[in-house]
Amino acid sequence: MKVLVTGGTGFIGSHTVVELLNKNYEVIIVDNYCNSKRNVLHKIYQITGKSPTFYEINICDFNSLEKVFKKEKIDAVIHFAALKSGADSIKDPGLYYTNNIEGTYNILKLMKKYSVKKIIFSSSATVYGDSQNVPIKENETIGNVISPYGMTKYLTELLLENKTKQTNDFKAISLRYFNPIGAHPSGLIGEDSPDNIPNNLILYILKVAKKELPYLKVFGNDYRTPDGSGIRDYIHVVDLAKGHIAALNYLDKMKTNYDVFNLGTGKGHTVIELIKTFEKENDIKIPYQFVERRPGDVEISYADCSKANKLMGWYAEFSMADALRDAWNFAKKTRD
Ligand code: UD1
Repeated sequence: MKVLVTGGTGFIGSHTVVELLNKNYEVIIVDNYCNSKRNVLHKIYQITGKSPTFYEINICDFNSLEKVFKKEKIDAVIHFAALKSGADSIKDPGLYYTNNIEGTYNILKLMKKYSVKKIIFSSSATVYGDSQNVPIKENETIGNVISPYGMTKYLTELLLENKTKQTNDFKAISLRYFNPIGAHPSGLIGEDSPDNIPNNLILYILKVAKKELPYLKVFGNDYRTPDGSGIRDYIHVVDLAKGHIAALNYLDKMKTNYDVFNLGTGKGHTVIELIKTFEKENDIKIPYQFVERRPGDVEISYADCSKANKLMGWYAEFSMADALRDAWNFAKKTRD
C-alpha cells in the first residue's frame, strides 16, 4: 500500500514514516522543510534501512503537488503538513489560513481527481478549547478555539467531515493529539526545528538542560491543580506515530465515512511533575520560577482514549519518564 505523507520530515511526520516503513508500507513524502532539517531523510534510512520517495514541495503549490499525484499511484494520505505555533498564528493569521486550509484544500481536490479515497488528518486537542470536562471525550463540544492555528484545525475537521458526506466512498479520520513529547529511542530523530526557537514546554526545558537558558518560566501557580501549575496529557511521539498505523487499518473497517479519535495517554501531569520527572530520569537540575499565567492557556487538558483503545485497538505504551529520557537523549546527540 502506497501512502503519501505530507509533512513527513517534521516531528510527528518523521516518526510516523519510520513506523510505516517498519510495517512495509511504501512511503511518499511531500515536505518543504519549513520546520524540519534536511538530514531527517538520512536518519530515517539509518533507523529503517529504507529510503522513502521524497518531493520537496509546498502543499500550497497545486501544480507541483499534482505532478506527485499523477506519477505515484497513491492509496492513502496522512496529512501533517501545517504550521503549528499557536502564538505565531495570532501574529499572522493569514499565513496560517493560507497554508493550513488552502494546502488541505489542494490535497482534497487532487485526491478527488486521482481517486484517492482515504485520508488521516493531524488534528489537535486544541479544538476542544478550554473544556471543563476532563478527561476529554471526542463528543465534547469543539470549535471554541483560542488561536487561528486552532481554528485551522477545527475548520479542516469540518471540511473533511463535509467531504465524506458529499462523496460516498471517501473516508477520513481526524486524530486529535494531546501534547506530543519524546523522540525516537535511537536518538536519531526528534523535535528539531531549523530556527531553534522553542515553542513548547519540552523545548524550553531542553534549553535549560543545555544551559542555553538560566531557568524555566512556569506559567501560572494558581491553577486548580495540586501544585498550581497547568495539567496536560504528554504522549510519546512513537506512541502517537503508531496511532496513525492503527487509524489506517481502521479506515478499512469503519462503518461510517468519518470518525475522530483522541490520541493521548489518558493521564494528566502538572508542569512541576514533568520538571521533577525530567530531573530524576536525566539527573539534571532544571531551575524554574513561577511567572504569570500565559494568556490563552487552558487549565487542565487530558484525554479519554477509550474510543481509540476499543475501536482501533491502540494504546499508548510509553510513560512520561520514557519520553523525557528519549527527548534528552536526542537533544544531547543533536548538541554534540
Ligand atoms: C497548545 C495546544 C496544542 C498546540 C500547542 C501549540 C491545547 C490543549 N493544546 O499546547 O494543541 O499544538 O498549544 O500551539 O490547547 N509551559 C510553561 N512554561 C513554558 C512553556 C509551557 O509553564 O515555557 C506550560 C504551559 O503553561 C502548559 C504546559 O507547559 O501548562 C504545556 O505548554 P505547551 O507545551 O506550550 O503546550 P500547550 O499550550 O498545552
